Amino acid sequence: IKNIRIALDGPAAAGKSTAAKKIAEKLGFIYIDTGAMYRTLTYKAIKNHINPKNEQELYDLLMNTVIELKPGKEGQLVFLDGHEVTSEIRQQEVTKNVSDVALHQLVRSEMVKRQQELVQNGGIVMDGRDIGTAVIPDAELKVFMSATAEERARRRFEEHKKQGIESDFQELKAEIEKRDHIDSTRAVSPLVKADDAIELDTTHMSITDVVNKVTEIAAERG
Ligand code: C5P
Repeated sequence: IKNIRIALDGPAAAGKSTAAKKIAEKLGFIYIDTGAMYRTLTYKAIKNHINPKNEQELYDLLMNTVIELKPGKEGQLVFLDGHEVTSEIRQQEVTKNVSDVALHQLVRSEMVKRQQELVQNGGIVMDGRDIGTAVIPDAELKVFMSATAEERARRRFEEHKKQGIESDFQELKAEIEKRDHIDSTRAVSPLVKADDAIELDTTHMSITDVVNKVTEIAAERG
């Protein structure tokens, strides 16, 4: 299979990162989680007491920020200015604020620029919200993964339970729906299925089903 570029988009907790990791592993590709980049900026903004609504301050902060994504044993490791923040960027406080940080034009154009530099060589699976529409509009394969909010909240709840994190199902569902709403109604590259993306409703699909389906299509296109 050739070094194609696979763009994987969809709403929060649709299983994109889990699937993307496995697809990349199966194809020998590199996995890039772009949500981690927005989360890292959000984490630093919170530390620096910057309001997520302040576009200019966020942009200035980003221009003085080095975000590195490195492959690790259990998936991607994230570094902020040389320090590992892989688990820190998953904190509730970051999750609650990330969509407000990610809606700004200045922030997005810089992030998209950095992401485009990462995909130059192909052989990648990139997941996010605007990969097929803005980051790699000419990707060889675009997949839009969806699932009902109920099912996505259920998956996140189970994931937390496994990690020993206590959570409230209704609260999780509300947080997911709120993030989806901000992501899909923002003015700059909102979350939307690209016209030429293949839509996978994963509500009744297992991760293995999703991985097999995507790698099958990738083989046809590669
Ligand atoms: O993928 P994840 O849920 O970690 O993404 C966190 C947030 O980052 C999303 O809810 C969205 O606001 C933002 N994001 C984005 N564009 C991307 C990836 C993530 O706006 N390509």
